[in-house]
Amino acid sequence: MSNAWIEIDRGAYQRNLTALARWTACPVLAVVKANAYGHGAPILAAAALETECPGVAVARVDEGVALRAAGIAGRIVILGLSLPDEAETICDQRLEPVVADPALVAALARAGERAGSPVPVHVKVDTGMTRAGLDPTAALTLCREIRAGAGLRLAGVLTHFAAAEAEDGTTMRAQWRRFEGVRVELAQWTPRPLLHAANSAAALWFPPACLDWVRGGLLTYGVAPADRPLPFSVEPVAAVKAHLVQVRDVPAGRAVSYGGAWTTPRRSRLALAPLGYGDGLPWNLSNRGWGLVKGCRVPIRGRVCMDQVVLDVTDLPPVHPGEEAVFLGRQGDAAITAAELATLAETIPYEILTRLAERLPRRVV
Ligand SMILES: Cc1ncc(COP(=O)(O)O)c(C=O)c1O
Repeated sequence: MSNAWIEIDRGAYQRNLTALARWTACPVLAVVKANAYGHGAPILAAAALETECPGVAVARVDEGVALRAAGIAGRIVILGLSLPDEAETICDQRLEPVVADPALVAALARAGERAGSPVPVHVKVDTGMTRAGLDPTAALTLCREIRAGAGLRLAGVLTHFAAAEAEDGTTMRAQWRRFEGVRVELAQWTPRPLLHAANSAAALWFPPACLDWVRGGLLTYGVAPADRPLPFSVEPVAAVKAHLVQVRDVPAGRAVSYGGAWTTPRRSRLALAPLGYGDGLPWNLSNRGWGLVKGCRVPIRGRVCMDQVVLDVTDLPPVHPGEEAVFLGRQGDAAITAAELATLAETIPYEILTRLAERLPRRVV
């Protein structure tokens, strides 16, 4: 049994998915890439498919293959672009790739024809993010070629917003206008491909973008995509916890942890937790992060190490080895959120979550 672990609130994840689907009146494709944002993809993909979700999405073919190996039988969309040599695997594993490149499309078509069952593909339209995809006119041409050819089925057409969380919404509205021609043309097709555009932020704050699916990521893990009021509440899904492994009193004037970046200003009681940057606790929380012990905030002292971190429990009633420390989540009335960690560590909540290491066991609660 590990002394450091992540608790996954499966029910909270399902409630968040359901709340998002209700708010948008739209099915939510559950985005479980990067190990479900660090939470554990097999657990949460299965949880998502028990709700009304039409499927799950990952970034890469190998993530999709791993979900199939874990017994996930539902629809799996590959949001990132793949290479032609992955076409056979995509076809064999019944994955739904996002496509933009003719060579990949041709390889998938050959694989689909050989298998005697068309590969469902989603064409990516770049409406202004300038990352993956084709400009609208080229994307429509590709859609027509897919429709006319054999071996493929045009399952969907998507775009992705570069700044859906921005309060003024100017960039998003400009992207939305560039998507309009594609939507209008495809609306006349029979069968019509699914259209999807909204991520969490667009789903929250730009209702028109909730087309046939929304692609829900960060919000479904209970974390707001921006520091803006949410129209409904969500519950954090992950909590990071450890059992204290040592508590000791040290005199004033002791330099603590690597580099001696903090020196005890008085006689201090220091508690050691077996959790470090090797687990995803950011190194730059050194001397500025917090843990929760006995329901109180206690400061991280000195540098965060790879596997250990020192907490200052001087002001608490007696603390003992074996007691629980929380680094993300709630203990009593105190809480540390992914948003707070991101601010302290000068990053974004997405990175805080996706850094959560594989070696921490996930305990489903
Ligand atoms: C194409 C695409 N759609 C949807 C999402 C989900 O975004 P979010 O986590 O902001 O909901 C992502 C995540 O990066 C993505 O790349």
